[in-house]
This record gives sequence, structure tokens and C-alpha cells, in this order.
Amino acid sequence: FADVSIGIFGGGTVGGGIVEILEKKKEYFEKMTGNTLNVKKICVRDASKPRDFELPEGCSVTTEYSDILEDDSIDMVVEVMGGTTQAKDVVYDALKSGKNVVTANKALIAAYMPEIEKLLADINGKRETAVEFRYEAAVCGGIPIIRSLQSDFVGDDVQTVSGIINGCTNFMLTAMDRDGKSYDEALSEASALGYAEEDPTLDVGGFDARSKLKILMRLAYGVDVEEDDIPCSGITELTKLDFEYAKMMGGSIKLVGVASQVDNGDVSAFVSPCYVSADDSLFAVNGATNAVELVSKNLVCTTLIGEGAGRYPTANSCINDIVALAKGDKTPLPFNPASEDTKYEGDYSSDF
Ligand code: NAP
Ligand code: HSE
Repeated sequence: FADVSIGIFGGGTVGGGIVEILEKKKEYFEKMTGNTLNVKKICVRDASKPRDFELPEGCSVTTEYSDILEDDSIDMVVEVMGGTTQAKDVVYDALKSGKNVVTANKALIAAYMPEIEKLLADINGKRETAVEFRYEAAVCGGIPIIRSLQSDFVGDDVQTVSGIINGCTNFMLTAMDRDGKSYDEALSEASALGYAEEDPTLDVGGFDARSKLKILMRLAYGVDVEEDDIPCSGITELTKLDFEYAKMMGGSIKLVGVASQVDNGDVSAFVSPCYVSADDSLFAVNGATNAVELVSKNLVCTTLIGEGAGRYPTANSCINDIVALAKGDKTPLPFNPASEDTKYEGDYSSDF
């Protein structure tokens, strides 16, 4: 077997899950990819902090980015530290030094994807073997929505993308509505379970959902919108009374993101808490589970439901990217821009 050496930036919720799965499935991944996948170094903020996962044999922990970025024996960088400043430098420097990159960082992708694509084109224009970049875990944790849009929908035209795309707030809304928890109790439980972002304002303010919606819009429609142009309200203004009214009407409240193509080809989008009735497919989506509904010309209506946050669902998506790269799979092309005739002509319409 050839050796694929991996450097991970981040040893928290997601980083720990990646290390655990890579160790647990080492032999299987060897057979599958023809390569031995070894985590050689993990870069964190505080090397003395106790970790809740076992370090693989021979793996060292560092706080120096250069220990990974300047190590020529490291083939692949996994960025799961978050943020858009140091993480951006890490990703760009890794790509420039010819290392494949996997990330779970939706804030980074939402802010810089066009720039990253350009950087990749510049780098790969000068190389024989392309440097690859994958980000399946950046949207909806464990749900394979990015690869679906990049592969299963290539021949289709998406009309509407909608659903629950933030696990932390869905967990909180479920805890408040169903279990009578207070907002603060629900948020601290979500944080303890690893669902919340380091700055939970991103979750409760709807901004994490908006970043994901922006990424989905680029994949579904080939459009780049400014995040600030997407109207966004989170769950911070919801009161007990809202839940009581929703219950009286037989439904519930969910934080929903919606992007639709309107008749002139423009795209309209928003993130907002919405009332969902008991017969809506989102009604039964509880806890950190996410659900994305795609209305499209050929496939009509496709819904993907699964865990949207947390250690193992998110690490699972990163692992899929890591294994695909170790197998030598090429990164799928960005989604085709929609053709003129995009509309499904039947009578199906999304609830939102
Ligand atoms: P986390 O538990 O807070 O872990 C972050 C890790 O990165 C920690 O080990 C931290 O080091 C390290 N780190 C942070 N800033 C750093 C810096 N400037 N330099 C070096 N190391 C740094 O976060 P997480 O939940 O694993 O999330 C990581 C990424 O995955 C984020 O982009 C997040 O949006 C994304 N994501 C998370 C989930 C989820 O459910 N958690 C789901 C999808 C995507 P220390 O441990 O020393 O502090
Ligand atoms: N904080 C994010 C969420 C993590 O709750 O959905 C997964 O992207």
C-alpha cells in the first residue's frame, strides 16, 4: 500500500470524529483505496488541552501551522477548525503547496468559493496532477447534498431548494416546543452536544443557515449572491406565545431556508422561522436532523433527511471526501447553470 499522510487543522467535535473513523476503518479504507490513510499531525489552538479521542500511533499535536503546511510528506489537509481568517490562509496555502484539501467550513465556502475556484484553476493550470478540493460536510452535516447537486442533478434544473438546514436551532426549537425547555437551556444543551458554532450567534441568528443556502444556490442555480442580500431572521425573537399559537393551530415552528427561481429567471431567497402544519414533511423533522427538499424539472420532488450536525454525521461526510480523494476520484464539476427551460410543468409546488 502507498501512504497518504493527512494533516488535520482542528481537533474538536468534527476533527475528533474524523480521527476515530479513520482509525476504526483503517483496513477497509486500505482495501478500498489501495492506500494507507495516516493522520500524521493535528494542529489545534492549545496543544495541552485534553482530547476526547485517542491519537493515532505516530500522530503529533502542534500549534504551528507550518508543521503541516511545510511538511512535504503530507498529501492532504483537512480543515475543521472553522472561521474565515486563519482557516482561509490554511486552505489557500495548502492548495498552493499542492496538497488536496477537505473542509467542513461553510462560512469559508460561502464567503470565498468563487475565489477558491479561481485559485484552483490557476494552480491546476500549472500542474500535471490536479489539486483537489472538497466540502461535503459544509452543508447539512451528514446529508450528502453537495454531491447530490454535483452529480445526481447534473441533467436536471432545480426550481426550489428549501428546508431545515441548521441542526442547532432545530434541536433548540424541538427542545423548547416539545420538551418545554427554556431558550438558554436548549442552547447550552445544543452546545454541549457539539451542534452549535463556536459563536452560536451564527446559529440562532440564522446566519449559518444563510451561508448554507448561499452555497446551495451556487450549486443549484450557478448564481453568486451576497449573503447580506438574503433576508435573514433567526430564532432569537421567538416567544413562548409563538409556540402556543403554533400548537393551537396544530403545527409547529421551524427555522427554514428557501431559494426559488422566479419567472424571470431571478432567484428569490430567505431564511426565517416559519409555521409548519402537521401534514408538512418538515413537521416531524426534530432534534439536530435536517431536511432539504429539491423541486426540479426532471426529478420533480426529492427530499433528503438526515443528521445535520454533530461529531459523527459531520465527520462521516469529511471521511467520504477523504476516501474519494485517496481513491483518486476527481472533484465533480460545479453544477451547470440552469438552462432556459427550467420549469417542471406538472402541478407540484413546494410548500414554501
Ligand atoms: P470545535 O469543536 O470548536 O473544534 C475546533 C477545533 O479547531 C479545536 O480543536 C480548536 O483547537 C481548533 N482551532 C480553532 N481555531 C483555531 C486556530 N485559529 N488555529 C488552530 N486551531 C484552531 O468545532 P467543530 O464543531 O469541530 O467545527 C469545526 C468546523 O466544522 C467549523 O467550520 C464548523 O462550521 C464545521 N461544521 C461543524 C459541524 C458540527 O456539527 N460541529 C457540522 C458541520 C460543519 P482547541 O481544541 O485547542 O481549542
Ligand atoms: N452549527 C451547525 C448546525 C453545524 O447546527 O447546523 C452544522 O453545519
